[in-house]
Amino acid sequence: MIEGLRRLEYRGYDSAGIALVDDGTIVSDKRAGKLANLEKAIAESPLPPVTTGIGHTRWATHGPPTDRNAHPHVGRARRVALVHNGIIENFAELRGRLESAGVEMASDTDTEVAAHLLEEQLETGVDLTVAMQNVCRGLNGAFTLVAVDSQDPDRVVAARRNSPLVVGIGEGENFLGSDVAAFIEHTREAMELDQDQVVTITREGVSVSGFDGTPAEGRRYHVDWDLSAAEKDGHDWFMRKEIFEQPRAVADSLLGRRGTDGLLQLDEMRLSDQDLRDVDKIIIIAAGTSFYAGMVAKYAIEHWCRIPVEVELASEFRYRDPILTSDTLVVAISQSGETADTLQAIRHAREQRSKVLSICNTNGSTIPRESDGVIYTHAGPEIGVASTKGFLTQLVACYLLALYLAQVKGTRFGDEIAQVMDQLDQMPAHVQSVLDKSEEVYALARDHVGSRSVLFLGRHAGYPVALEGALKLKEIAYLHAEGFAAGELKHGPIALVEEGLPILCVVPPRGRDQLHDKMLSGIQEVRARGACTLCLAEEGDTTIEPYADVLFTLPQVPVLLQPLVAVVPLQLFACELATQLGHDVDQPRNLAKSVTVE
Ligand code: F6R
Repeated sequence: MIEGLRRLEYRGYDSAGIALVDDGTIVSDKRAGKLANLEKAIAESPLPPVTTGIGHTRWATHGPPTDRNAHPHVGRARRVALVHNGIIENFAELRGRLESAGVEMASDTDTEVAAHLLEEQLETGVDLTVAMQNVCRGLNGAFTLVAVDSQDPDRVVAARRNSPLVVGIGEGENFLGSDVAAFIEHTREAMELDQDQVVTITREGVSVSGFDGTPAEGRRYHVDWDLSAAEKDGHDWFMRKEIFEQPRAVADSLLGRRGTDGLLQLDEMRLSDQDLRDVDKIIIIAAGTSFYAGMVAKYAIEHWCRIPVEVELASEFRYRDPILTSDTLVVAISQSGETADTLQAIRHAREQRSKVLSICNTNGSTIPRESDGVIYTHAGPEIGVASTKGFLTQLVACYLLALYLAQVKGTRFGDEIAQVMDQLDQMPAHVQSVLDKSEEVYALARDHVGSRSVLFLGRHAGYPVALEGALKLKEIAYLHAEGFAAGELKHGPIALVEEGLPILCVVPPRGRDQLHDKMLSGIQEVRARGACTLCLAEEGDTTIEPYADVLFTLPQVPVLLQPLVAVVPLQLFACELATQLGHDVDQPRNLAKSVTVE
């Protein structure tokens, strides 16, 4: 169980705990902080050997990350132990009712109410499965719950609504996890569940039902990656390993997209050509890094397809009362496929009868399941909390989508599309050539260990790259970092520039003459005010030399594809700087990999 939690720790690391069913009682240990604290506690006072148990790593929502708020939570009689992801929105009302019935709460969490409610149900004589169904019908919000009953040691029961849960099917053993990584060491056979389902596992079997008790079937699938993908493979951090996996990830995401007739084919598209021809507006919704991939997509789609594109933060989308029709295509970009903000946004779009296409890296996750079509990226599991290969493969999927729309709508000739596909096919090698110069970037990062603030400038497709570079630095190095569109600088942010301030500048390829020259002017303006300019520019661009304190050369690639190579040094820079500062790069403070709460 500890190994399983270790592989899921990237999803939350405020506290960790386990509860085991031992001879009619619940035995439990739980500790604030990382899993290592729990391991130490267990090493000092070992728990009994058993075959049924549950565990959890927490990303705190209700109540601070303390021992007492750590999961599992137990019922009043310690008959039930329960872990929970998500938020039970009506917990205050439920808690009020339980407290007036004399229940004393042992934590500040919303979770604990579910443990008491389950125990109440069990006391009426029903089994844990029925108890779970009955309790879930009274809960609002998003939750995955997993529980054990000390009086029924062979059974583990779980439920899900809007929060991930997968079943691992073994031989003489079965598993539950938020992600297949939890049990990949034991089995690659998995089962996905629908919303509002309860699943019961025993040593021998798995059974599924709705919250109303109606029997249901989960969908079985085979996981196409193995344990090695979930290990660091000699690197100090998952993030660094994942940065170096990018050439492979980009190549995998491009694989099999061209048919024998030379036309683009997107297998999981599921939207008909006619549906796509009718599209008159695209709205891309996403959060964080995925949002920046969406910004790049806007440049590509508008240029190649001449369809207007809006890019919107998923968390804001519903609240601005967006204008959606059945001819609006909503594109949701989500590496995890579980981001609650993005999920709620696509639900809103579908209610308004818009079509939803998702770009996702996680097979069978909720967002693709609730979309009309999906383009899967093939990055493999991304475990470092800061997204890297997830981002690059999202960019690839965005380019593929743009080209596919151009093909269907006839806004680009077949040979033009084939030419861009050929250029994309060369990108893994280009990304590799940037990685081959990682030492140069590391040296630069080491030179800036003392910096308190770093700015990032870009234009056009380089602007989202600048934003992404800044986000990486904030997330893992905890530095003040901001990305700007270079043209905006003079409208305010240039006031931030002072002697020695490092500014990373993403210089567009010379293919876009005007843009390139304008960027150069922006760089001169900050340099004249004392900034230290760290420039990323394509090979052979000598015009930049007089204005660059440091020059890192990028391979020559087309303007729209430049983000694929330009972001890589920024990832390496953040990773190395954070390492030098002694931070936990894979598990940065306050964050979690999968943000399943709104
Ligand atoms: C940053 C990062 C986050 C995610 C965001 C959306 O490194 O990983 O900003 O991009 O939380 O997550 P997904 O793509 O899973 O919806």
